[in-house]
Amino acid sequence: GDVAVLVPAAGLGVRLGPGGPKALRLLSGEPLLVHAVRRVAAAGVGCVVVAAPPSEVEAVRELLSGVATATVVAGGATRQHSVSAALAAVPANFEIILVHDAARALTPPSLIVEVAEAVRGGHDAVIPVLPVVDTIKEVSASGAVVGTVDRSVLRAVQTPQGFRRRVLAAAHAAAVDEHTDDAGMVEKLGITVHCVPGDEAAMKITRPVDLVIAEALLARTLA
Ligand code: CTP
Ligand code: MG
Repeated sequence: GDVAVLVPAAGLGVRLGPGGPKALRLLSGEPLLVHAVRRVAAAGVGCVVVAAPPSEVEAVRELLSGVATATVVAGGATRQHSVSAALAAVPANFEIILVHDAARALTPPSLIVEVAEAVRGGHDAVIPVLPVVDTIKEVSASGAVVGTVDRSVLRAVQTPQGFRRRVLAAAHAAAVDEHTDDAGMVEKLGITVHCVPGDEAAMKITRPVDLVIAEALLARTLA
């Protein structure tokens, strides 16, 4: 349909430890990016643009050729630059744009559909969220506890994040400093960001333990 999905996949994966760009690291024998793009394609979207590590653009095109029809562009030095590069490659007819981390490799197609539908239903910006399970404290530079944050008002944020195209484009055009997600840039424009329920399987693979958890989810066909 009229939904385009941008897949930033150009990160180094420093927190995962040595072993090359994270999106190309293997999970049950396949690169994280392949798992992610297969699920994006299964959601029935009309356009997929992947931002690959600049030295891996050709390799990623080949990797995805049997998985989905995807445009592959060179990513940037930050996630934000990678998303901007991918956005520039989306044809003009796509009005709903989702931004989805390759690192959330097991995100179910149903969550992708739900975010897109919430944008279609009238929200300019939509993010999937989960409750925070840990107690969260503010801590000073010296390691002293400043206070305990009220957890009930906090949410952990996942991707895909969905936007009216003009809203995402305006946010990227206006951004001066770096943001870890696209909704953060939209908030700065004073536009309301709407939350929908996230999904445990949309966990971000960040540290080595996350690969272990993801393998277990796959093995139990929970993702
Ligand atoms: N990303 C990107 N371009 C960058 C940095 C990150 O496209 N310059 C992508 C990653 O590939 C990932 C998503 O943004 O799919 C979320 O980033 P993160 O989980 O931080 O991945 P990395 O930056 O690769 O990991 P790390 O921060 O541990 O190096
Ligand atoms: Mg990173």
